[in-house]
Amino acid sequence: MIKSIISGMGSYVPPNVVTNNDLAKIITTSDEWIFSRSGIKERRYAGEGVYCSDLALEASKKALEDANLKPSDLDFIIYATLSPDHFFPGSSCYLQTKLGIDKTGCLDVRNQCTGFIYSMAIADAFIRIGMYKNILVVGAEIHSNFLEFTDLGRNVTVLFGDAAGAAIFSPTEDEGRGVLYTELHADGKFAKSLHMDVWDISHKPFITHQDIDNRNIWPKMDGKTVFKNAITELCKIIPATLEKNNVTMDDVKYIIPHQANLRINQMIAKQLKIPDGIVLNNIEKYGNTTAASIPLLLDETYRAGMIEKDDLLLFIAFGAGFTWASALMRW
Ligand code: UT7
Repeated sequence: MIKSIISGMGSYVPPNVVTNNDLAKIITTSDEWIFSRSGIKERRYAGEGVYCSDLALEASKKALEDANLKPSDLDFIIYATLSPDHFFPGSSCYLQTKLGIDKTGCLDVRNQCTGFIYSMAIADAFIRIGMYKNILVVGAEIHSNFLEFTDLGRNVTVLFGDAAGAAIFSPTEDEGRGVLYTELHADGKFAKSLHMDVWDISHKPFITHQDIDNRNIWPKMDGKTVFKNAITELCKIIPATLEKNNVTMDDVKYIIPHQANLRINQMIAKQLKIPDGIVLNNIEKYGNTTAASIPLLLDETYRAGMIEKDDLLLFIAFGAGFTWASALMRW
């Protein structure tokens, strides 16, 4: 039976490092507040004139090189982001042309923090049915240009950073390897718990000067509701995923979680009694990079030589929507 494996990985972060102390010069905050609440020390900002698809391009080039493929070998592109270059067309189209190819099908996935896992599920399904061979899945974000750098937005601003991560999914007939399982959920009644009011397509025009004056152009988050629901749902989806696949936590080499808040991941590990060293984190260096966080962490782990063939990896994510998801993969 055909399944999908990751045949190449890549990631890219912009060079400009912004520390908690740098932010404390602009808004009323402190390294102590940010680190103790979130585990973040620093993040990267892309700066003026850089598009999300530029970050995606750098990560994609590395993933292609790692897979020993050329852009023209790609059969399909899936691009997960909440910070697309423009309202339309989708950023996957911009990425495609930057890769120097045309005709290849392109799909944007707008699932925020679970974007990479949702995209993995789509790529896996396309490969299983034999529709495509090599699928580029990218998660990329430029948050820094739509964060509110005033005290009113500080609870959101300090958490997010810019990054991109990419994986090439390809078919395998290797028994037991590849994407074994994905589970995708959403509960739209929590849409307003983490959202942005513009664009508001129910109004003509869909963005006004008043929207800017009323701060509707900035993301809003009810942090406590996100925090509580993330722990509840992730503590349910982890055991459910293991049980449905007849494996236990002892079989799992690493959990690669979305990086929203170190405290969320630590509380999950504590509640589920997961031994130290299984749940991986790199939020300290990059903050929350939404759709990029899982492929960025996976790429770092892979390039550090920590993952071996046949290792069982569990991916989990929770975020805006609310959406939450898991995936089990034998490397
Ligand atoms: O990818 C998924 C997206 N997001 C998440 O998963 C985030 C989940 N939530 C969280 O991580 C936490 O809720 C936060 C880290 C965002 C906030 O922690 P909290 O313990 O829920 O803080 P809070 O919002 O209740 O604020 C506590 C205090 C408030 O001051 P008062 O009212 O007690 O005087 C805030 O105004 O901390 C203040 N505050 C800050 N102080 C310094 C809020 N943001 C900051 C800040 N620096 N950046």
